[in-house]
Amino acid sequence: MNALLHGDAAADAAAEDAPLLRLSGVNAGYGDVKVLRDVDLEVARGEIVTLLGPNGAGKTTLLLACSGFVNVTSGDIAFHGQSLIGTVPHAIARRGVAHIPEDRSLWPTLTVDEHLRLTAKPGALDVYDLFPEIARMRHKRAGLMSGGEQQMLAMARALVSNPEILLVDEMSMGLAPVIVERLFGTLEEIAASQGIGVLLVEQHVHLALRHATRGYVLAGGRIRTSGTAAELNARWSEVRASYLGTS
Ligand SMILES: Nc1ncnc2c1ncn2[C@@H]1O[C@H](COP(=O)(O)OP(=O)(O)OP(=O)(O)O)[C@@H](O)[C@H]1O
Ligand SMILES: [Mg+2]
Repeated sequence: MNALLHGDAAADAAAEDAPLLRLSGVNAGYGDVKVLRDVDLEVARGEIVTLLGPNGAGKTTLLLACSGFVNVTSGDIAFHGQSLIGTVPHAIARRGVAHIPEDRSLWPTLTVDEHLRLTAKPGALDVYDLFPEIARMRHKRAGLMSGGEQQMLAMARALVSNPEILLVDEMSMGLAPVIVERLFGTLEEIAASQGIGVLLVEQHVHLALRHATRGYVLAGGRIRTSGTAAELNARWSEVRASYLGTS
């Protein structure tokens, strides 16, 4: 640390050096049920990081812990170097952490426009430009949209809140491959052009590793290995046999 920096300037400099999101030694779970154990993980600006692992590994729990819905019993989750522990979910969202849950959490009777108006902040990205498919149905109710259109709306709703990081749970679930590719393409585009960090839970390992910069493998609540997407791809059969029990 530069000795000339002190007070707010030092704190600002530290926040600038810190990764966007850093989990260190995180233990978390539901009441007596311990799920995450000593989890260390980082996401930098503009980076797509994938979190892989078998069913029940704790992937959703990890995302929920980052957005304040799951109790962290020890360790820290820091955003721009500042701890999020003890911060309520809506305040975490306001700080720039947007969560797109697996079930998308849309309101079936609200229209596309109404969903976006609920979370839009001044200066938000033009999501209708990003997703012309849903621009054409801005007065349609979410409950009447296809799965792919709903996923676009869920992503658009997250993006209009001007997030710095997107936590995305199982985006590809139940969608046609062509839609999935299109959504991953959009994530890559916004990560590169806006510097948004993405932490992405995905069951389709090779799909995720094709679009991510780096990845972590979680099994039994612990990070078992991590690396660049290229490294994990090259080691995948060994990783799968060692940690996922599906040799
Ligand atoms: N609300 C809850 N209360 C108690 N235990 C829970 C709760 N939600 C999840 N769990 C348990 O926590 C563990 C991790 O679940 P989690 O949903 O985080 O896994 P996951 O890796 O997302 O799995 P999947 O790939 O099936 O989505 C599981 O053993 C699960 O049964
Ligand atoms: Mg899950």
